[in-house]
Amino acid sequence: MTRTPDSWWPDEIEHAGRENLDELHVERYDSKEDADAGTEIHRLQEAAVLGPTSGVVDLGAGTGQFALAAAAVCRRVVAVDVSPVMLARLRDKIDRNGASNIEAVHAGFLTYRHSGPPADLVYSRYALHHLPDFWKAIALARMADVLRPGGVLRLWDVVYGFEPADAQRGIDAWIAETTSTDVDHDWTRPELAEHVRDEHSTFTWLLEPMIERAGFHIVEADYSPSGIFARYLCRKR
Ligand SMILES: C[S@@+](CC[C@H](N)C(=O)[O-])C[C@H]1O[C@@H](n2cnc3c(N)ncnc32)[C@H](O)[C@@H]1O
Repeated sequence: MTRTPDSWWPDEIEHAGRENLDELHVERYDSKEDADAGTEIHRLQEAAVLGPTSGVVDLGAGTGQFALAAAAVCRRVVAVDVSPVMLARLRDKIDRNGASNIEAVHAGFLTYRHSGPPADLVYSRYALHHLPDFWKAIALARMADVLRPGGVLRLWDVVYGFEPADAQRGIDAWIAETTSTDVDHDWTRPELAEHVRDEHSTFTWLLEPMIERAGFHIVEADYSPSGIFARYLCRKR
């Protein structure tokens, strides 16, 4: 991206997360993180959100655990990621999988341009927190633009379900319950601390009005008991 001194649109790669641009992290990502894509696909099928005619856009697709599973049961998947390292891994997996209905696109929440019929489902898991709140609001409005009326946004993220006064307790408890030091297979305390310190996870009570403001109705919101994770099923109004 060419930046002029008065450019105010960010270069999303600068917010992509240090680890997502790191070859070693990307190589071990699937051993560390299980997106539980099979369960997720099953739930979306049961809710009649995903079916053989569906078009899906996965924003921040990473190594494509969900995108590849979705491609097996729907018409078209566009897997979008801003990290060239993640995207290379995803393209390699697509080649090995042989799926012909999945496209890997190098773009971000703020730059992806959809072509073809509007999508039935926008999926985004653990990626939106890379943008600060102003840009999350813009990204959510762009997601609504990609969807057909009545289309669904499935959004998972680290979203804090406590008050600022309780942040020290909530974050400390999350980090304290993480005991693994096996960086190849688990998330470790320094990685969680880095997430809180350097990335842009926000509060549920800030994100949810942004989702509604972008033109969605929040149909379901599931929160982890720890107050750290949230999953939303939202329908475009
Ligand atoms: C923690 S990974 C999640 C990957 C996958 N969604 C999953 O659930 O396993 C976050 C992903 O978001 C991507 N990402 C970061 N900023 C982004 C942006 N502005 N637009 C699109 N993707 C972004 C990263 O490159 C990375 O692949």
